[in-house]
Amino acid sequence: MKTIIEPFRIKAVEPIRMTTRAQRQELIEAAHYNLFSLKSEDVIIDLLTDSGTSAMSAAQWAGIMQGDESYAGSPSFHRFEAAVKELMPFKHVIPTHQGRAAERILMEVVASEGHVIPSNTHFDTTRANVESTGAEALDLVISEGRDPELEHPFKGNIDTKRLNALLSERGDDVPLVMLTITNNSGGGQPVSMANIREAKAVCAEHDTPLFLDACRFAENAYFIKQREDGYGDKSIPDIVREMFSHADGMTMSAKKDALVNIGGWLALNDDTWAMHARNQLILTEGFPTYGGLAGRDLEAIAIGLKEIVEEDYLEYRMASTRYLGRALTEMGVPIVRPVGGHAVYIDAKSLLPHIPPLEYPGQALAVALYLTGGIRGCEIGSVMFGRQADGSEEPAAMELVRLAIPRRVYTQSHVDYVIEVFEDVYDRRDELSGYTITEEPPQLRHFTCHFEPK
Ligand code: F0G
Repeated sequence: MKTIIEPFRIKAVEPIRMTTRAQRQELIEAAHYNLFSLKSEDVIIDLLTDSGTSAMSAAQWAGIMQGDESYAGSPSFHRFEAAVKELMPFKHVIPTHQGRAAERILMEVVASEGHVIPSNTHFDTTRANVESTGAEALDLVISEGRDPELEHPFKGNIDTKRLNALLSERGDDVPLVMLTITNNSGGGQPVSMANIREAKAVCAEHDTPLFLDACRFAENAYFIKQREDGYGDKSIPDIVREMFSHADGMTMSAKKDALVNIGGWLALNDDTWAMHARNQLILTEGFPTYGGLAGRDLEAIAIGLKEIVEEDYLEYRMASTRYLGRALTEMGVPIVRPVGGHAVYIDAKSLLPHIPPLEYPGQALAVALYLTGGIRGCEIGSVMFGRQADGSEEPAAMELVRLAIPRRVYTQSHVDYVIEVFEDVYDRRDELSGYTITEEPPQLRHFTCHFEPK
């Protein structure tokens, strides 16, 4: 059969509240044109993020009832730890309430003023957690990864030549190297096994640990299976295990590829770092057998980790993202190619060339999608990355709008609706205008800043 169906039936539903364009105009004005400030019930199709928005399975909900809420030594922790180690055999597994808590703890343990933490591309919370220690967060993605139109199977790869040069020059200042799989800020693009292996070889030469920011590890593994020679016949769990065999540790947001609404972990082999990390954990998250989570959350993660590596699921997941990407491409909308795992990224700079980067073409497109059809996407461009540590403002490398697809939530007809809304916005693209920022906090401004239309 050529139709790849959703490999699940729907057992519980959440109603979507419809709104009119006039209502949305009022709502977005009240939100100061910041889509993060909207109430989610005022959104028709919410593609703001794939994080924490997954639909859990019947098995996961059943697991919730099995949660053991003991303060210390809960069997739920042991089931969680075993499920993590089954795929990611690190010595220490430290649960946290979500990914950024794992990042904060790791950075507090390893980084300080004068250090550099390279990555292919740091996600915004990772970058902020690196910078808050006084260290520098450096992006070393391959040059192909910065060109939205260019087709390349692994645009998330790190530039190992530049990594080697950095480690040769300033090795003592680099406590660890990170690799984000898939590369979210660069368009949800995968990293090849060969690149993980090479990055590890470069790190090993300089005695520097390699950590994976592994939020979307299963999607990355599926891309390896599809696109990399020698992996077509391997099972997803085997590919996952090989990916992690090259790493010394990982940070994880379980809100993505563990199919749960909250959770994360830090896993690593180094005993001393693990001891310091657990101390940090106890200070702000909780005892090491629950981190910032309830026992029931740990159960849901343990089950989610089994479901996420099922090939029927991953095939449907990739097909649904590709379906949206293909329709937009056929319409003439410029998108980051090839389509990433969890999202379609629209190149707003090419779509709206009349809006200069510092008038935020991505924001203009995101607001237009909301006004036209109640769709909420997310700007990943100069609003998110434009403010520099020294207070100046620079255009970001790309002006993207991300339409992230929650896992197991929307059906093909929801996606058809998104496509129809896009047709309308595309026809009126020359009429869209830019924005100015009228109020912003000192860090991570995109979450709370206020805009006004130009
Ligand atoms: N690393 C990557 C690559 C991410 O995409 C995220 C979150 C995090 C770390 C932090 O994890 O949210 O659990 O604290 N990304 C979400 C997103 C927010 O919308 O892409 P967290």
